[in-house]
Amino acid sequence: MSDRTLVICKPDAVERGLSGEIIRRIEAKGLKLVAAELRTIDAETAGRHYAEHEGKPFFADLVAFITRSPALFMVVEGPEDTWKVVRTLMGVTNPREAAPGTIRGDLAVELTENLVHGSDGPESATREIGIFFPNL
Ligand code: RTP
Ligand code: MG
Repeated sequence: MSDRTLVICKPDAVERGLSGEIIRRIEAKGLKLVAAELRTIDAETAGRHYAEHEGKPFFADLVAFITRSPALFMVVEGPEDTWKVVRTLMGVTNPREAAPGTIRGDLAVELTENLVHGSDGPESATREIGIFFPNL
């Protein structure tokens, strides 16, 4: 069995030169990259990706952040529950609370600038891969 999820090295990760470190951790865990593209997304695409957050107070900041410079979009594959494996590697949303050993816990301090996105479930993974890699 194999299972895929969407991962984004967010603009702060690319700006800080941390994409390699994030990919290293994903690959070292035993997951595989099956697609990757560096691109700057527009506000419409960002709004589709983060549709669940539309209307929340932080939505405008989130869209401004994710569209400000190139981000690295990736499809990552593992044997099972890949989205969950990636979320464990990432750490919790707020880097100030994320555990040491996680990407956010080790490498970030700001809530918006938290380096990495991972789909939050199997349905989100399918939906998000469809947005960024419609040909897969
Ligand atoms: P992501 O979708 O980016 O992987 O992050 P996540 O699942 O850990 O967190 P989520 O709840 O989906 O929130 C998306 C992004 O919005 C920002 N946020 N700000 N000010 C706030 O209360 C707040 N809550 C969330 C974070 O940057 C989070 O990554
Ligand atoms: Mg999320």
